Amino acid sequence: MTDTNKQPLQVLSVDIGGSGIKAMVLNETGQAITERHRIKTPHPPTPEAVLEVIGQLAAQQGAFEQVSVGFPGVVQHGVTKTAVNLTAEWIGFDLAAALTEQLGKPVQVANDADIQGYGAISGKGVELVVTLGTGFGSALFVNGHLVPNLEMAHHPFQKEKTYEQQLGRKALKKKGNKTWNRNLAKAITNLEKLFNYDHLYIGGGETKRIKIELPKNVTMVPNSAGILGGIALWKDWEG
Ligand code: BGC
Repeated sequence: MTDTNKQPLQVLSVDIGGSGIKAMVLNETGQAITERHRIKTPHPPTPEAVLEVIGQLAAQQGAFEQVSVGFPGVVQHGVTKTAVNLTAEWIGFDLAAALTEQLGKPVQVANDADIQGYGAISGKGVELVVTLGTGFGSALFVNGHLVPNLEMAHHPFQKEKTYEQQLGRKALKKKGNKTWNRNLAKAITNLEKLFNYDHLYIGGGETKRIKIELPKNVTMVPNSAGILGGIALWKDWEG
């Protein structure tokens, strides 16, 4: 028997970033059905302060049944394990449980680059995703399946600096566009040799600074992928 009372799935997708927290509601096919709202990330960005902002965003967005959250650090089973660009209080914080209690809806939390990836990939072959924003995000997919917890950000890159130290927003501001672009070109060469990917996607707010010519198997994805991928968490969960 068909359940005629079944409501279409509406997911509130939230992206916690180092400079802004964004939210919008998506339908089952991952399309936005509300306007995206953004509130500046509070300072200091403690769990309490960030939860307060998410509460405000949720109230502006109207009706939804489930929630997906992209977090700028490692997430395991809803618990945030690292938070280099937020505060130390996030380490070991059960964000999924805290938000479920606050919003009264089921919540899934995942790394922000993973969500960005879900919103960008084609689902074929080895696809790597990196994001250029406050931090340096990374996610790897094989035939559309996520290889969990890939963290390139704090891994050595060159000149005893990590990928994030050379390609994060601080480095961009300090060294300028030219050096940052040169480093990006080197990083792409490294990553291609390391992962032998079929395709690399580059997302995040700072893609607008990219001036180098990208190889054929590398494309930029709009920043909106970071929030549009939110539906995938629930699709994966439901099998
Ligand atoms: C974190 C990653 C995150 C990236 C982008 C890095 O500092 O370690 O987990 O995906 O920033 O926010």
